[in-house]
Amino acid sequence: MTDQPITAVYPGSFDPFHLGHLDIVRRAVTIFPRVVVGVLRNADKTPLLPAERRVELIRETLDGMPGVEVTAFSGLLVDFMRESRARVILRGMRAVSDFEYEFQIALMNRRLWNPAETVFLTPTEEFTYLSGRIVREIWHLGGDVSGLVPEPVRRALEELRMESLRNPAEA
Ligand code: PNS
Repeated sequence: MTDQPITAVYPGSFDPFHLGHLDIVRRAVTIFPRVVVGVLRNADKTPLLPAERRVELIRETLDGMPGVEVTAFSGLLVDFMRESRARVILRGMRAVSDFEYEFQIALMNRRLWNPAETVFLTPTEEFTYLSGRIVREIWHLGGDVSGLVPEPVRRALEELRMESLRNPAEA
């Protein structure tokens, strides 16, 4: 037992941050007094958006939401948790297909640092089909991502598309 207010870390690559992620953060702030959104650097060697840009866009999206911080991190999640004075890891669980991987990393994180407890939240049904991979694929194929990502992210992806049309070699 502890009297300390519990800080939860919500880690992910968030490449890009989509409405399913936003739904989880909205739920999390009703449970935890402090939620730290941890954006993993270098999860993928060629992310759609660099980590610092992802942080900016998430901050813009969550602007004014009390109790939320957004930070990029590298290395082990449990080290980031210790730095953030957090002992809860929040993860979204969309479907049974998420379970095996999530169970594996939850147990591994606890093995790495025993106080680390993973709490799973389920997004609203509307977003259970959403994933960063699907949003990236739609974007790469020229599809419309509005209604899938928050407005600041949609605008950033639109700008990225304009940029990639001007410089096709860099897309
Ligand atoms: O959104 P994602 O890509 O499913 O998030 C995965 C994430 C960031 C939670 C996971 O890759 C992670 O925690 N990476 C940090 C490295 C680490 O701690 N690895 C050991 C535990 S698996």
